[in-house]
Parts: sequence; structure tokens; C-alpha cells
Amino acid sequence: MTAGNSLAGNGRVLVTGADGLVGRRLCEQIAATGRPLRASVRSLKSGASPPASDVVATGPVGPDTDWTRALEGVDAVVHLAARVHMLRDPAPDPLAEYRRVNTEGTLRLAREAAKAGVRRLVFASTVKVNGEATADRPFREDDPPSPRDPYAISKWEAEQALAARSGDAPQIVVLRPPLVYGPGVRGNFRRLLKAVDRGFPLPLGRATALRSLLYLDNLAHALATCLDHPRAAGGTYLVSDGEDVSSAELVRRLGRALDRPPRLLPVPVWLVSALAALAGRGEDARRLLSPLQVDSRRIREELGWAPPFTLDQGIDETARWFLGTKK
Ligand SMILES: NC(=O)c1ccc[n+]([C@@H]2O[C@H](COP(=O)([O-])OP(=O)(O)OC[C@H]3O[C@@H](n4cnc5c(N)ncnc54)[C@H](OP(=O)(O)O)[C@@H]3O)[C@@H](O)[C@H]2O)c1
Repeated sequence: MTAGNSLAGNGRVLVTGADGLVGRRLCEQIAATGRPLRASVRSLKSGASPPASDVVATGPVGPDTDWTRALEGVDAVVHLAARVHMLRDPAPDPLAEYRRVNTEGTLRLAREAAKAGVRRLVFASTVKVNGEATADRPFREDDPPSPRDPYAISKWEAEQALAARSGDAPQIVVLRPPLVYGPGVRGNFRRLLKAVDRGFPLPLGRATALRSLLYLDNLAHALATCLDHPRAAGGTYLVSDGEDVSSAELVRRLGRALDRPPRLLPVPVWLVSALAALAGRGEDARRLLSPLQVDSRRIREELGWAPPFTLDQGIDETARWFLGTKK
């Protein structure tokens, strides 16, 4: 699908983490507009290079990364490279590792970008900066931050470190996406696709808490909007597809997209949580069962952004990709 979108600027863009889920899609979309693009990756991997002709390997992102070559002639950066959330973290001190990559690495990039004369840096943060679950209303950007795990703490500290540079170039824009899904998705979303496709009974019939989601192409479009929109400078934005659904409803929609009637069992939520915790999957269960909604009015009103794709279009495209991977 194409967004017919606002990738309107013409200065060279550097996308970091360009071989990740979001980076690949964003590079494809930018490249399709003809805008000069450079992709940076940790290392060049055979058969997995990002869709860009100008690819730079920077080594690990951290406080000492050499960005000189990557930033040469760059107008704007989308910083996606990050130590992302892991279920079983092998690091002896996970918070220190997250800080090294996500906080110190981001600050280093901003400093180097300033030296290189970069106009704007768009930072992919996370809704987890706001917290893990909403109570009586969707999260807003100005709510008191409540990052709970090392990943979220490192992203929040990065946001603060970037804000502390305010006044200095480059201009900073922060996006806080909720769960991103689309072709290439991994984790819980892919497990759900697999389970529905195989007709496994799922104990989510009573999982009615609403959650915001973000289709990959909608995120790419929002990132691209933040690259150039004059009003985005200094802004922080929560962003979503705009239709929140419960996990039970999500399973029904996946079933429809996969052409498989889903088997939803009406198991009480407390029991699903308890059984998942016993199986060491409490974290996974929480992400399916607790409410997590974002209010994306600010990006819509300030930047005139609207998601080009609906939730159903995103799900259909993701299901098509998933079915294609089975061939
Ligand atoms: N996907 C979501 O649901 C979601 C939601 C909210 C926010 N975000 C944010 O969006 C951004 C992109 O996420 P994604 O889903 O595309 O993640 P992803 O698929 O896991 O890709 C992460 C990218 O970061 C690179 N990276 C990780 N650790 C690195 C390190 N120490 N040094 C250099 N590069 C490193 C990875 O390279 P290697 O392959 O070499 O490790 C990869 O290119 C991240 O900043 C993430 O925090 C994602």
C-alpha cells in the first residue's frame, strides 16, 4: 500500500536502525519519493540490507558511536535504532545497557548531528514512557511520565536529555508509538496471527480492555510528517491508528482477515492472568489484557496529521503478508 503521503521535503534523510521493522518500511517509503536517503545499520548483514542504496554501518549505538560518515550532508535524522524491549534480557544489568544505547547513544547522535549542521532529529520513543496501562482515560502527552521498565526509563531519559538541549540545533521531535504491527511484525502480534491461523482456542473472549495500535505505514507517515512540518519542532506526540480495540476484537478481526473463524473462550481475565503468570508469561498477558489507549489529538490538530490507513486495512495487509510467509 502507498500512503500518497507528505514525504515532501527534499533534504537528505538519515534513518538509523534502518534494517529493523520500522526502519525498512520508512526507508522504502522515503526512497519511493526520490528524496535523498541514507540508511544506517549496526552492521552489514548478508541478505538483510535495508531498502536504500546508501547504507552506512556505524557499529553499536552508544556514547562513543562515530556518526561522522552517516551524518555527512544530512538535513534530517529519524532515530529508530534502539535496544528494544526484550522478554528475557541476557544483560547482567539491563538498565545500564538500555541507558548506554537508548539514552547516551541518542544524546551522542544529537550532539554529532548539531556539529554536522542537521536541521531536525525525530526520535522514536514509546508510549511506555507514559506508563503500562491507562486508567479512566487515554494517555496524553502532558500526563506525568510513568516509565516502569528499563526500556521505558531509558527512552524517557533520552527524551529529557534531548529536551535539555532545547535551543541548540537540531530541532527535536519525539513520537511515542503504541504497539506497531504490519508486515514483518514479531512478538505477541505474530503469535496471535499464528494461533488464529491454526485455529487454536484462545482464552481472550473476555479481554475487553481497549488498546491503541499503530499500523507500520501509519507510523512511517507520521515520522515523515514530523521530519518537515514547521510546527513539529520541539513537539512530543502520541500517535495511533485512531480506532482502539480489545484483544478479543483484535482476534475477531485477525480471524476475518485470515478467513479463519477465531475460537475465543470466555475465560475470566483474572484466571488468564494467573495462568500466564504461572507459565512465566505474565508480561505477555498484561499486554493483551490491560487497557492502554492514547489520545492522538495533538498530532492531528497541530500537524494536521491523519493516519492514511484504517486499522482494518493495516490488519488485512499484515494478514496477507503472514499468509505469504507460509508459502
Ligand atoms: N515496534 C514497536 O511496537 C514499537 C513501539 C514503540 C516504539 N518503537 C520504537 O521504534 C523504533 C524502531 O522499532 P522497531 O520495531 O523497528 O525495532 P526493531 O525491528 O527491533 O529494530 C531495531 C533496530 O535497532 C538496531 N539496534 C538495536 N540495538 C542496537 C545497538 N546497540 N546498536 C546499533 N543498532 C541497534 C537494530 O539493529 P540490529 O538488527 O543490528 O540489532 C535494528 O536496526 C525503536 O526505537 C523502538 O523503540 C517501536
